[in-house]
Amino acid sequence: MQEIIAKTRTFRRFIQKEAISTATLHELIDLALLGGSARNGQPWQYMVVNKPELCEKIFPFLGWAGYLTDWKGPVEGERPSAYILCLLNKNRQKGPETEAQFDLGVATQNLLLGAMEKRIGGCRIGAFNPKLASLFKMPDHLQLSLVIALGKPRETVIIEESRNEDDIRYWRDEHGVHHVPKRPLKSCLVSLEMC
Ligand SMILES: Cc1cc2nc3c(=O)[nH]c(=O)nc-3n(C[C@H](O)[C@H](O)[C@H](O)COP(=O)(O)O)c2cc1C
Repeated sequence: MQEIIAKTRTFRRFIQKEAISTATLHELIDLALLGGSARNGQPWQYMVVNKPELCEKIFPFLGWAGYLTDWKGPVEGERPSAYILCLLNKNRQKGPETEAQFDLGVATQNLLLGAMEKRIGGCRIGAFNPKLASLFKMPDHLQLSLVIALGKPRETVIIEESRNEDDIRYWRDEHGVHHVPKRPLKSCLVSLEMC
């Protein structure tokens, strides 16, 4: 578990020509569906996109790696070869939206872990232009909430321990290796005195 969790990083550069089949994407969504869900409400719907023409239409709406200010996102040839659009089904959502968003976190982590096991990397994209939804005939009860970009990774991503409390910005070195600082256990633990 430690190995697969540590390997399941966010990837943003891919071998674009390596297609991902609809069957594989369905397998990954099946893993998302096994996740825990508040009230077991399971309010998420998923749309699979792997046709190059549609991938091309989606790409301009996506925001990539906010900390890498001089990088505009993956260039042609390194773009995702598939997407999974995560849509909140308002008809199924009974609790507050935060609860549904928790469920989506659980679901997408399952999905990305399963993807990594198949050597497929992904990036959850919350920073998409909301106009993306207008590419589709969106029914009123569905709300586009997250885009998962997927592809065969074409970059090395390594995790390292944060040097201090403020060290959370990922960065790329001169060899193009992407570094992701993670807070150490000792800075995340709290021990509260009893009243
Ligand atoms: C809910 C969520 C939304 C995210 N949105 C974006 C995004 O819009 N663009 C992007 O490039 N990365 C996005 N990421 C990826 C994070 O930047 C990434 O998880 C973080 O840098 C840590 O890297 P790691 O996933 O390899 O641990 C998002 C991640 C999560 C969980």
